[in-house]
Amino acid sequence: MTMDDLMNMQGQGHVRLGSSAGQALTRRDGMLKVTGAATYAADNRPDGLLHAVLATAGIAKGRVTHLDVAAAEAHPGVVKVYTPANAPRTALSPDEKIHPFVWRMETLTDDSVRYAGQPIALVLAETLEAAAEGARLLAPRYEAEVPRVTLDDAEPFETDTTAFGRPAGHASGDVDAARSGAARHVTATVETSQQYHNAIEPHAITARWDGDRLEIDTPNQAIGLSKQTFAAFLGIDPSQILLRSPFLGGGFGSKAILYGGQLLAILAARDLGRPVKLVLRRDQMYGPVGHRAPTRQSLQIDLDAEGNIAALEHDTVTLTSTFDQFLESASNASHSLYAAPNLRTSHHGRRADVGTPGPMRAPGEAPGSAALEIAMDAAAQAAGMDPLEFRLKNYAETDPSTGMAFSSKGLRDCYTEAAKLFGWAERSAAPRSMRQGRLLKGWGMGTAQFPCPMFQAAAHATLRADGTAVIETSAADMGQGAWTALAQIAADGLGIDIDKVEFRSGHSDLPDAGVAGGSGHTATAGTALFNAGADAVRQLAELATNDPASPLFGAGNAGVTARSGRLYRNDDERSEPYEDILARAGLDLVRGEGKGAREGEPDRAMFSHGAVFAEVLVDPDLGQVRVSRLIGAFAAGRIVNPRLARSQLLGGMIWGIGMALQEEAVHDRRSGRLTNADLAGYHVPVNADVPMIEALTVHEDDPYVNALGIKGVGEIGVTGTVGAIGNAVWHATGIQPTRLPIHPESLI
Ligand code: MOS
Repeated sequence: MTMDDLMNMQGQGHVRLGSSAGQALTRRDGMLKVTGAATYAADNRPDGLLHAVLATAGIAKGRVTHLDVAAAEAHPGVVKVYTPANAPRTALSPDEKIHPFVWRMETLTDDSVRYAGQPIALVLAETLEAAAEGARLLAPRYEAEVPRVTLDDAEPFETDTTAFGRPAGHASGDVDAARSGAARHVTATVETSQQYHNAIEPHAITARWDGDRLEIDTPNQAIGLSKQTFAAFLGIDPSQILLRSPFLGGGFGSKAILYGGQLLAILAARDLGRPVKLVLRRDQMYGPVGHRAPTRQSLQIDLDAEGNIAALEHDTVTLTSTFDQFLESASNASHSLYAAPNLRTSHHGRRADVGTPGPMRAPGEAPGSAALEIAMDAAAQAAGMDPLEFRLKNYAETDPSTGMAFSSKGLRDCYTEAAKLFGWAERSAAPRSMRQGRLLKGWGMGTAQFPCPMFQAAAHATLRADGTAVIETSAADMGQGAWTALAQIAADGLGIDIDKVEFRSGHSDLPDAGVAGGSGHTATAGTALFNAGADAVRQLAELATNDPASPLFGAGNAGVTARSGRLYRNDDERSEPYEDILARAGLDLVRGEGKGAREGEPDRAMFSHGAVFAEVLVDPDLGQVRVSRLIGAFAAGRIVNPRLARSQLLGGMIWGIGMALQEEAVHDRRSGRLTNADLAGYHVPVNADVPMIEALTVHEDDPYVNALGIKGVGEIGVTGTVGAIGNAVWHATGIQPTRLPIHPESLI
């Protein structure tokens, strides 16, 4: 890194990274995890621990008329039973929205039941077994009302905003005029199912008060923000809280949000003067901690005589709970991908007796992309064009919803690379025209796209006299490898080898790394870490170039380059190790600080892109679908760690297999309860469902997205893939998918 580079860091200049970023390193925390040495929240057992178990509602609507608290309290080992009659209260109203990541806190405030699985009591006991038995002995009785749990019977409402306050509608151009002048009109409707996050590690918390100081162990995707939220609801100062989240066993969005159960455990610990641990059972993760709501999407694409999109309209109807609002912004998937000169999108809400939905891997984009890509194949057919040819013809050179240029768009390369590897040119156009033995073979494709948000992060980087460094930021590693990728970026900012870097992370006493969500964590926290390292190096360079005893003396104008723990003159061969610079200055360390955030309003449209090609084999008699090949190529800016990025992309694509063919939580319409709230009945892909899969990345330099050129890879793999599989099934069978996951009976 040259001094010029260092200076450019402060502006929009594109910084060339050193030797660590780009390496396919294995996870730095991998050994801890595979040996069981990693401590997850539920692994903590402070002295005097009480175990908490939630009792949850067995009806979906009505109220609790009786809980046998006496029976529960009489059970040996049970210490306390909290119900709405005696539960400790939060300092803020549970309805208070102090920032966009706050959902209504369910803290046993009243006896009403608003969805099946809602917490109705909390039992504290000396052992987990006693707490579980106590919860069972409560034997709730209810006054039940008829619940409404599906899109068909839910209560419609109109809204101006969808998830996180995004506008619910968009219009550019004149869709109606363009439609009346169009040569062909294509419509498609696609329904997507409700999905549950099912992280391997359930939601868990261990809470311990030491006087006024609170220690919390809970897996969390937004450590700094969550500390603030806990503090506000507890009525204490954030400085009184230490939140530890060193490891997360998956999050997928559900651990970016705090839920009432966590607050109840903390309040119980304060009330009882003992540490409390609450771990949700698998079935308790189906309701109180968010899910992806079902959608019903309608698209219309109007084409001119040459097969250009004249108008595109995308409407979404989706569910939220009766007491809070989170709407899948699925229609937004149509905003920025294809060149639609006339564009209209909308969302409509419905309220049902279900838990409040929340962000789940590619929220909005995943179901939206699925419907959009199936509609694009419908349009390609109407235009008499190959699906790839049609997409290339309607390739957006600028973002049609904003008119902005893209910061970069490597999508053409993605199409080319993935199509070549897949062998797309050999596709026979007619449906049902390809076979493998008695099985119908289908080939389909989808375009992947995901935005590149940045949050706000801060970091410290300390270079020590022995040439090693400590970097600090409270990043969340939920399995994606953040600690590894971020350490690589930090090492390059510091100009030292990564094995010299100690990474302190995962708790709230460190500088805030922002939200691990929106596929923006590496970009945000990475920028902060790089800047912190660069700040430390700048201080070193200043020391050396002003010190007559240094070989770097006077090199200020030509600049110096930091590499492998030394500063090199740019005007000749001379160099000096960091240790010598510090020693001569009589310093033990230099400490740099950095921030990561996007400055001002962006004037470019910033997205990752990709192309996914799928081959399916369909049993013509049974309707059973197997994905036999799945190939994606992605343009996602600078790839910090190819091994981790590939793993993220594959994970997203496999998620897409589940969304297309398997994942679906089903309500019993009479009881309002889920029929499959467990991993036996809720199907996700296993190895046998993924015989051949590959994810490539294509080179992409994005000089605008951030100074490091980093985009995200965590969520984009879900997009594109679902539509590709749906289109492959359509090609195999001649039956256009209208409902995801695709059921075998819809194909026979
Ligand atoms: Mo993700 S749904 O941005 O954690």
